[in-house]
Amino acid sequence: MLFDGPISCSGVHITYFCHVWHQIKYYLAHRFKSIHLHGIHSPFIYAFNKDCLQQGSSLAVKDELLRFRESITSHPATLQITDHGAGSKKLNKSLRNTSQILKVNCSSHYRTQLLARIADYLNVENALELGTSLGVTAHALSLTSDITTVEASPAVLDYARQRWDDFKISNITSISSTFDVFLDKLDQKSQYDLVFIDGHHDGAATLDYFERLLPHLHDDSIVIVDDIYWSTGMTTAWKTLQNHPKVTACIDTFQWGLIFLRKEQRQQTFHVHV
Ligand SMILES: C[S@@+](CC[C@H](N)C(=O)[O-])C[C@H]1O[C@@H](n2cnc3c(N)ncnc32)[C@H](O)[C@@H]1O
Repeated sequence: MLFDGPISCSGVHITYFCHVWHQIKYYLAHRFKSIHLHGIHSPFIYAFNKDCLQQGSSLAVKDELLRFRESITSHPATLQITDHGAGSKKLNKSLRNTSQILKVNCSSHYRTQLLARIADYLNVENALELGTSLGVTAHALSLTSDITTVEASPAVLDYARQRWDDFKISNITSISSTFDVFLDKLDQKSQYDLVFIDGHHDGAATLDYFERLLPHLHDDSIVIVDDIYWSTGMTTAWKTLQNHPKVTACIDTFQWGLIFLRKEQRQQTFHVHV
């Protein structure tokens, strides 16, 4: 296909155009497929969508998440980035301001609310995050569960640790490592109720991480993959994951792919606008 993402085009502008076109094409398809609540025949997914995804967060949670973001804006810093992922399409420099990182690389206030709601609704006790950045999503998950978060950029992780210390958070375990090395060393007994894959946005790497995470997941675990339409590679990985023999229900929110392994579900993908 002529405009099937950045890989098939050449030149910076054409690549950017192809990237935008890839996202527009899939966004329109997603909106078209987005279902209304009455179109969901799975009671579990119906309730999850209605009582969690489509709900607002409490004022207390919203305030707490905002307070954390504000602590980043009130502690500006320039950080050395060691890029182990697919890089940023918007930030290429190895020295970046925390304000730029917060805007471009970190989850929005809305997304952190959604993540906190998902963890709360699913009674998540143990979460794992691949990709810490400034720590806003680890902070959101720490509101309801213990969380282990992995980041390969030491300066970025140090910055996040300082913010968590300011907030006196004690249930975040942060690991300075690449995802690859972390997964190699992961204790066989470690089990996670929720895994958030939010870094190294490369299709093949994402599939590899998912396979290596499987022994650490159980029937009620949820895996959230960020940026499933970021590139043709990520979109191909998302399609592969939806058909993976261990995967049953999936929810496509366009930004995130939510993956369930619940045996009682049949393999099916729901497009939900959140
Ligand atoms: C999109 S940011 C994470 C954002 C954060 N979860 C949030 O929502 O605020 C991705 C982070 O993953 C880190 N990263 C990317 N690839 C990595 C890898 N292979 N191993 C370890 N860290 C990696 C990057 O340094 C970056 O800080």
